[in-house]
Amino acid sequence: MNEGPVSPHAGSHVPVLVEEVIHALAPVNGAVMVDGTYGGGGYARAALAVANITLIGIDRDPEAMERAWAHAGKDSRLIPAPGRFGELEQILRAMGRDQVDGVMLDLGVSSFQIDEAQRGFSFMRDGPLDMRMEKKGPSAADAVNRLTEGELADIFHILGEEHGARRVAREIVHRRRSKPFERTLDLAEVIEKALGGRRGKPTHPATRSFQALRMWVNDETGELVRALTAAERVLKPGGRLVIVTFHSIEDRIVKLFLRSRSGNDPGLSRHLPRSAKSRPPSFEVLQRRAIEPGERELAANPRARSARLRWALRTEAPAWDEDMNDGFRLPGLKQLEGAA
Ligand SMILES: C[S@@+](CC[C@H](N)C(=O)[O-])C[C@H]1O[C@@H](n2cnc3c(N)ncnc32)[C@H](O)[C@@H]1O
Repeated sequence: MNEGPVSPHAGSHVPVLVEEVIHALAPVNGAVMVDGTYGGGGYARAALAVANITLIGIDRDPEAMERAWAHAGKDSRLIPAPGRFGELEQILRAMGRDQVDGVMLDLGVSSFQIDEAQRGFSFMRDGPLDMRMEKKGPSAADAVNRLTEGELADIFHILGEEHGARRVAREIVHRRRSKPFERTLDLAEVIEKALGGRRGKPTHPATRSFQALRMWVNDETGELVRALTAAERVLKPGGRLVIVTFHSIEDRIVKLFLRSRSGNDPGLSRHLPRSAKSRPPSFEVLQRRAIEPGERELAANPRARSARLRWALRTEAPAWDEDMNDGFRLPGLKQLEGAA
């Protein structure tokens, strides 16, 4: 989700594309489904409202899990499961399950996270430079104070698609020599200065760099890649994979994965050995174009503006059992995962 204008719904999260997600997930009575990004429970409530399902609610953020436990206290069909969706298979196995009928993911951060200054995700609210969804591991302050100028430039360039990535990295490294970074607004000001100020820009100059840092701190592309191949292994034939992304890199990863797994990747087939070309598709994609929010949703919730929904049906074919990076060649993804 984007950092849009300050949320009109502070202390809550407005679920994005929720009707479309539930339509794609198509829960039926008796199904077992996974919400890999419980967040504020918006998707979970919507799915539980339409059918009598068992819903496993995963989130890596302990505060989201507190909400999930409170929700489960009122609805025993929800089973909270703290952890990362990249570890979906292990989480299910620990619960004594191998297969499920549906997996939904709503990537990025929730309004609860962005709006809480102490979490350090926002360039508009002063707080500690943290950005860790899980509240453990290296923080954004560790990244900007310790990574080399080249590493920072790569992060801003690849994950933020920031044209001024080198200038931002140079200014950060120059400034940290005299005073390490500790606060969000301090970093936002330095980035703004590096990019020549705010004049004439539709969004805050720190938008892309903050997004890139958040994605790096939480290894978000790595998590997505692991979740896709895990979902391929745990979904039953006919099971549904439904993913909402907010970033072009993530949408590209999902699109390329589904294109290749559904046997529709013309670029890939020339380079792959014959065995890979003849592999039966593990997913069927019924709707090739990503679904986007309509005008009414955008007017009510500007933070939905870059949301893209893609979904697919699991076929009966075995999982390809192959790291998706082997065939995907996303620029920088391999190095990035190495760095993270
Ligand atoms: C956009 S919010 C989801 C909102 C939810 N769909 C709703 O309707 O309330 C994304 C959530 O995913 C969680 N998250 C992000 N990456 C994750 C990961 N790798 N594993 C588990 N949870 C993750 C975040 O902590 C956040 O709570």
